[in-house]
Amino acid sequence: MPAVTKLATFEEILTLAKSTYHEIFGADPEVACCAPGRVNLIGEHIDYNDGFVLPMALPMVTLLVGGRRTDTKASVFTHCGGCDDPKHVEFSLKDLKPELPKWANYVKGVIHNFATELKLEGQLPGFNAVFASNVPVGGGLSSSAAVEMATLTFMEQLTGKQLESNKKRALVCQAAEHKFAGMPCGIMDQMISIAGQKDHALLLDCRSLDSFQIPFIGGSKDLVVLICNSGVRHELSQSEYPTRRRQCAEALKLMEKTSYRDAKVDNLSVLQSEPILLRRARHVITETKRTQDAAEALKACDFTKMGALMKESHTSLRDDFEVSCRELDVLVDAAINCSGVLGSRMTGGGFGGCTVTLLQRDAVDDVIATMRTNFTKEFNKDAAERLGFYTCVPSNGARRVDL
Ligand code: GLA
Repeated sequence: MPAVTKLATFEEILTLAKSTYHEIFGADPEVACCAPGRVNLIGEHIDYNDGFVLPMALPMVTLLVGGRRTDTKASVFTHCGGCDDPKHVEFSLKDLKPELPKWANYVKGVIHNFATELKLEGQLPGFNAVFASNVPVGGGLSSSAAVEMATLTFMEQLTGKQLESNKKRALVCQAAEHKFAGMPCGIMDQMISIAGQKDHALLLDCRSLDSFQIPFIGGSKDLVVLICNSGVRHELSQSEYPTRRRQCAEALKLMEKTSYRDAKVDNLSVLQSEPILLRRARHVITETKRTQDAAEALKACDFTKMGALMKESHTSLRDDFEVSCRELDVLVDAAINCSGVLGSRMTGGGFGGCTVTLLQRDAVDDVIATMRTNFTKEFNKDAAERLGFYTCVPSNGARRVDL
């Protein structure tokens, strides 16, 4: 089995989207846009707690090709993995509401909020569109934010109307996810999908939404980021996210603070009689500090320090925030014991999904082999064969694509 998993290339998904468009709509698309998935290097579950996060945009994108139609309907087909049926939907742009299939709610929600924001309700032009993607699905790499941001970029191109800033774009997409998809996510995924820059990680202050580009491994021939998709998604992933948000808010209240930015480890003592809340708050406070330290480490090209912080982050997510799972722990443990690995942790919401590892490029094959072997020992051969491995460098955010 080859070490790294083969994904469709950008050219392949563009060709697929264009030929499907031609087949269904009998014409060539006029506009194409794409938006990337992301991997978070550090700063997990703190975007909704006024923390800092440090993600990078992936080279893997969701692509949307489309063109105008003369009425006020949208006709949209998706090739994206993990979408429920039917894959082809038609809906009125004058009456946008969440309904089945679920995948289309991300699209409808963005269109709805875009129109509201720019006072274009009832005036949007009809369109036909086709989605294709090479962002691996299964949680952790933000395939939904990629769909949202590709849709938003497409709407801006189609109407010629722009939102005023990337901050606004991210907020419009986040609100779509809250109101149309029912997921009370933070702002990280949408922000990096629009603001990502080649060869940079993004330090995002989730309280002010100010962001800072930090050069990361662009010039380095030696280091690389390795993502491992565990292929599992535990049931808990949906229900536990809102629970964590609630617990963090409760802990903050008991500490008599209005923002985690003002909370310190010393404040945790008031949570002695609430051990679960204490652990949740401790994760938030320490992870926020770790992320600021990680940004400094990256600026100083101190990758040993960065790696150490990634390991601490995983431990905190596993023991204090309790959003890891056996599969992710086995993968992280396997990686951090290999030579050439600087750090490794779960990434994204947790309960399955992916791990992210920072390592020497020439160690990649051995590390993947060890991760597979340990996974086989702990689970079984079939499960290990379902693991996906992708090496990646920081890439650009959402953009128009030439046809
Ligand atoms: C999901 C959410 C993000 C963030 C992460 C955890 O990906 O969409 O907003 O909260 O989980 O860091």
